[in-house]
Amino acid sequence: MNSAASEIPVLAVDGPGGAGKGTVCREVAASMGWHLLDSGALYRAVAVFAGIRGVPLDDHPGLADLAAGLPVDFVPASDDTRVLLSGTDVTRELRTETTGDLASRVAAIPEVRDALSQRQRDFRQLPGLVADGRDMGTVIFPDARAKVFLTASARERARRRHKQLLDKGIDANIDRLYGEIVERDRRDEERAVAPLKPAPDACVIDTTSMSIPEVVDAVLSHLRSRLSD
Ligand code: DC
Repeated sequence: MNSAASEIPVLAVDGPGGAGKGTVCREVAASMGWHLLDSGALYRAVAVFAGIRGVPLDDHPGLADLAAGLPVDFVPASDDTRVLLSGTDVTRELRTETTGDLASRVAAIPEVRDALSQRQRDFRQLPGLVADGRDMGTVIFPDARAKVFLTASARERARRRHKQLLDKGIDANIDRLYGEIVERDRRDEERAVAPLKPAPDACVIDTTSMSIPEVVDAVLSHLRSRLSD
């Protein structure tokens, strides 16, 4: 990273799936007029691309090659960002639980993480970046101006994911979602590279009994206090 890039402020938002990071990051980025990096979408896109290209999950060099040349584009839309792979809209497939599970396996492969790291840093553009992920504050942007770790109980995260899927017209079983969340947490927390954990200088916010507007306010006030330091 050059010195100019290091002066561009980053808000790193890490935490487990279902803690509300996606919505909160979108709203904080819109409120600040900053760019948004959904790093999970990159791991999800590698998983989908591997399926299209027929690359098995145990072919680590093959997956790293796919990640290095990933033909992904993010197109802002009124409801949600559309994700294109080689020009084809894969947004819906990207958001399924099956893809999330595959992404968590792909994300445990060090060569894949390496292949995606520069692409993530390239999102650091003026006037600033909100970076949503698992290792934003620990590995990708250790010099972020502000770091937040959003968490919530696994039960509450399962309840939220269930509602989110039903709202999108996708049928889901809440107990199965809970089991998948616990299993995915374990995989993300126990992996050897870039495990899910708060950076030592992160502000940890437990959102279990908070509404989205309350979380957005808490994150914005933490960010503003760090920007005025
Ligand atoms: O946030 P998400 O559910 O879209 O992420 C999908 C998977 O990708 C998740 O299980 C963990 C992994 N991931 C990661 O390892 N590092 C990131 N920075 C973002 C996501």
